[in-house]
Amino acid sequence: MIHLKHIYKTYGANRHALRDLNIQIEKGEFTFLVGPSGAGKTTLFKLISAYEKPTTGDIEVAGYSLNSLKLGQTPFYRRKIGFVFQDYKLLKNKTVFQNVVLPLEIINNKTIDKSKQAMELLEQVGLHDLQDQYPDFLSGGEQQRVAIARALIHNPELLVADEPTGNLDPKMSEAIMQLFFEFSKKGTTFFVATHDYRLLTLKNSRVLELNKGELVGDRIS
Ligand SMILES: Nc1ncnc2c1ncn2[C@@H]1O[C@H](COP(=O)(O)OP(=O)(O)OP(=O)(O)O)[C@@H](O)[C@H]1O
Ligand SMILES: [Mg+2]
Repeated sequence: MIHLKHIYKTYGANRHALRDLNIQIEKGEFTFLVGPSGAGKTTLFKLISAYEKPTTGDIEVAGYSLNSLKLGQTPFYRRKIGFVFQDYKLLKNKTVFQNVVLPLEIINNKTIDKSKQAMELLEQVGLHDLQDQYPDFLSGGEQQRVAIARALIHNPELLVADEPTGNLDPKMSEAIMQLFFEFSKKGTTFFVATHDYRLLTLKNSRVLELNKGELVGDRIS
């Protein structure tokens, strides 16, 4: 599902955010990404989400070679994947419900009951009461859960989440992880960056560790 070969990402002349990363993640795997602040986790997710290109190296995700992705292909690529960004990237002029249902509207599959699916997911992340609110009126943790619901609503092949529980209390973090595990059982591949080491113990999963842009660990939790 994710194949990284000799990936380097250098900002400016000598700010090496990623150095010679070689990573393979198979379809259906559940993988955590850990490492101290500045290790390169978000940078790696920017490459996977095709918002940035590597300085050198090959990156292939869900059958797409991202180095040679044409502008017109990017939306099709992104539809296969769900992203939870560290800064959420919610649309401020849309309500909670409208933010969550948006990926389904873009795909525009007439056989899906979009409203029902959005409400179900909002219920699962504990936000059904807030469906008509705008993001600016929500707490950080509530906004984070909107981002999570939006990332999952189209049943993506791959979910990439950058510290998706960073603003949640322990009980809610665990509930979100259980939701991820349910999707994982149905076949979604997960790649989840976290600083919360408690989460790693909830399930036997693969843990990749970055430090200063290098892969320094690859183990089972
Ligand atoms: N646009 C940029 N320009 C210059 N340097 C950058 C840029 N983006 C990231 N970096 C640098 O790359 C390194 C990795 O940053 P990154 O955001 O990937 O870390 P992270 O592991 O996500 O950290 P955190 O846990 O704090 O979110 C940092 O040293 C950062 O300063
Ligand atoms: Mg980060």
